[in-house]
Amino acid sequence: EAAEKAGYEHFMLKEIHEQVSAIHNTLAGKVSELEGKIDLKELNMTDEEIRKLSRVQILACGTSWHAGLLGKYLFEQLAGIHCDIDICSEYRYRSPVISDGTLAIAITQSGETADTLAAVREIMSYNCPTLAITNVVGSTITREANSVLYTRAGPEIGVAATKTFSTQLTLLYLLAVKFALSRGKLSPDYVKGFITGLRKIPGQIQQILNQKEAVKECAENFAHSDNYFFLGRNLNYPIALEGALKLKEISYLHAEGFAAGELKHGPIALLEKGTPVVTIATKGQTYDKVLSNIKEVKARDATVIAVADNKDTEIGKYADVVLTIPPSSELLSPLLSVVVLQLLAYYTALARGCSIDKPRNLAKSVTVE
Ligand code: AGP
Repeated sequence: EAAEKAGYEHFMLKEIHEQVSAIHNTLAGKVSELEGKIDLKELNMTDEEIRKLSRVQILACGTSWHAGLLGKYLFEQLAGIHCDIDICSEYRYRSPVISDGTLAIAITQSGETADTLAAVREIMSYNCPTLAITNVVGSTITREANSVLYTRAGPEIGVAATKTFSTQLTLLYLLAVKFALSRGKLSPDYVKGFITGLRKIPGQIQQILNQKEAVKECAENFAHSDNYFFLGRNLNYPIALEGALKLKEISYLHAEGFAAGELKHGPIALLEKGTPVVTIATKGQTYDKVLSNIKEVKARDATVIAVADNKDTEIGKYADVVLTIPPSSELLSPLLSVVVLQLLAYYTALARGCSIDKPRNLAKSVTVE
């Protein structure tokens, strides 16, 4: 086992670091920067078929559901295609209405999650074409879905998903941009710039990893808090949910993620002096709104830990702690912010002496309903 950990104290830390190569490998052979083209042969759909789609239905659980939620934002914002997302354990019992022209996308790193398989069987019984996004070659989902896109993350041993999440996101970015191109919503020139940005992500993740001591110090300072909150807006909302789930899973701390705008609709009542509130405050269309949320949090004497661009000179005036990421486009920054939140969860669990790779009560894949 020590050899497999390759010098890392835990598989989770190793897998956080492996995101650099995992994203690179997931992109390999799928993007052409020169032509502004995305090639997803495994999708088995012509441009004409993509144009005819009326809806995407995403099905997933847990962390994969968080990836899917970001996927919904991407399909709607970039490709202008209606996208629904369901938690699989809810989907099959809520009498879903499945319209013609729907493509189902099932996201499951293991390919064995019982609820996801059941939801896929349900939607396939309506003859709905189904694409699986998974990390495990030969898993059950790969035998059931009509087509399969693999995340090339390599084996993930830690129960808490890390590199499978960021590679799921990578494929969802590619799918959404591919759909947008086919449907005439984005130009090849835009796509060239997008691919250039995406190709930079592994190197930028490496830069975040090189400064992990800052995240460690922050984690240690707040490791004995009772509650932790995570806020994000727009594309960062699913990342806030994922940050909270990671922290819960491995550190056993109570953590909740919220859409930052929802704060005043209830959760703000929970804030106390010193409650850590991790706020994703990267530059983008909702940046000013997020700053207002930070001020609301500060007015209740809670402590703001902001995840922000390293070029942001303003955020330090409002936040108590600033954890930085290299500047990237608003569209791609979630791939960077999530790495900071994974490290925060990891170092919090380490400071609390928790069983990081095998947290209590959790299994790597949930094969019972
Ligand atoms: C992630 O850290 C969790 N262990 C869990 O939420 C997981 O994402 C969920 O059980 C879904 O698993 P899957 O991707 O293998 O379907």
